[in-house]
Amino acid sequence: MRVTSTGHAGFLIETTGGSILCDPWFNPTFFGSWFVFPRNDGLDPTPLSNPDYLYISHFHRDHLDPRFLTEHVSKDATVLLPAYGVDVLEHALRDIGFTRFVRTSNGEVIELDGDLRIGIQSLAGPHIGPMGDSMLAVADPTAVVLDQNDAHPADLDFVKAFGPVDAHLLQYSGAIWYPMVYEIPEEEEFRLIEAKRRRQLDRATTYIEMVGARHVVPSAGPPCFIDEGMMDLNDLPGGRPSIFPDATVFIDHLRSVGHDEAHLTVPGTSLEVGGPGDGTIVHPMPESEVRAIFADKAAYLERYREDMADVIATEHASWPTDTTDLLAEMTEWLDPILAIAHHTREGVGAPVTLRTDDGLAIVIDMPAGRVRALEPGERTPFEFGMARPLLEAAVRNRTGDWCNELFLSCRFTARRDGPYNEYVYTFFKSLSMDRMRYAEEYYGAQLADDDVEWIELDGWIVESRCPHQKASLARMGSVCDGRLTCGLHGWEFDLATGTGTNSEGLTLRVRGRVDHPDADPVETAGSEPSESPSGVRGGEQT
Ligand code: FES
Repeated sequence: MRVTSTGHAGFLIETTGGSILCDPWFNPTFFGSWFVFPRNDGLDPTPLSNPDYLYISHFHRDHLDPRFLTEHVSKDATVLLPAYGVDVLEHALRDIGFTRFVRTSNGEVIELDGDLRIGIQSLAGPHIGPMGDSMLAVADPTAVVLDQNDAHPADLDFVKAFGPVDAHLLQYSGAIWYPMVYEIPEEEEFRLIEAKRRRQLDRATTYIEMVGARHVVPSAGPPCFIDEGMMDLNDLPGGRPSIFPDATVFIDHLRSVGHDEAHLTVPGTSLEVGGPGDGTIVHPMPESEVRAIFADKAAYLERYREDMADVIATEHASWPTDTTDLLAEMTEWLDPILAIAHHTREGVGAPVTLRTDDGLAIVIDMPAGRVRALEPGERTPFEFGMARPLLEAAVRNRTGDWCNELFLSCRFTARRDGPYNEYVYTFFKSLSMDRMRYAEEYYGAQLADDDVEWIELDGWIVESRCPHQKASLARMGSVCDGRLTCGLHGWEFDLATGTGTNSEGLTLRVRGRVDHPDADPVETAGSEPSESPSGVRGGEQT
């Protein structure tokens, strides 16, 4: 089997049963904020144009690039479709022109022609990425590859059905706006960035150890930011701390903990997996040039910015220059959605203000369930600020998922009084009736789920699964100073009360210490329908 990087999370996987093009991303996205790093604009698209199969892991624009698919990929390709609760991905691919689909169900092994077997594990839920994320296992008689990309599952057990994994492709870097957009003291911001960066690297290392593949390919990021005023987001020597470490940082981290199976790739690099050439790497340029990209990244990005000046200018020119009555527009659009958003509104629990740089302030009043103007002197617990053209664009386009369009651009500011609240972001991902219905059904089902198993962890009896995304706490949980931390996304819980200490809206069920095994279980959100629903996520976003 041969795995060729096309940049970011993109790969062409060539097997004995045909080729699979995965997540090809070439065009800058998120309001021109994200560019592929290392750049792939010089890559010849011809070898990618006639794949037997197409796999788009999820709806994020750095995985689903409609323009590239429209212009370069044959619509005869058969789409390997993840199972999601909303069908926005299938609709988008049909709109582009694809008509052949293999619908997968979660983790099921599917036999295709030529002794090719595949399976897609979907992570479904309104709180996960753009209404879901997924990963792909591919097996032919020569090798098994797991393309985990940026999915962060509680476990990777589904891949066992394919046998030992030979190559593991996975994310290790950041892909979110947190904490950079928050209005917090710089010292706190830097501390949060360092903690998040460490958690990302540790989480990826844990996945690598779960799978135990011979070859690891760091993938799915980081993007780079080359527009005016955004360079600071990149991880540059001597620069501000960044949640976007590149592959050389991750490979060094892995070496420091005893792993030497990771390969550095750039767009066009191929890796042979299985067979006599196993482990052979071929780069599209001399090794010294590959190294130079990372060793002199500031100069590389500066050249990239100069080369992309026209692209960036075109992006800016596409933003609206006129203004509309946004209060009226948003009222007409959002009030019907708010009317069905019972769990979500209760989870947010307070009004949210949207401010623009020209002085407009609109409130989404969650308790009242309506859009209104900000009252004189009013300060709401949640506030977002952005340039007027970006809000105009989101409203005019009726963008159903602001998190994965507007917010991932990092072209906004955020303030909150109090802890992180995941429901705020779920709301901004659910801005259509279909999306909100799905979110509400999901939370309703979470409330009804009261099937609890208990484990002992460092002297405490706690529920076995993290209330966030059900990670095994036996595997991912650690206890220190009376707090349990789940290593999958870093949520922390006070063991005395079960309450989240770095988030709100969910509670860990704790029976007590081992020497007090008869202690009553802590009351939990999941068992009390009047409380906020559990199963939300926070601090991390893909
Ligand atoms: S599953 Fe996300 S923090 Fe535990």
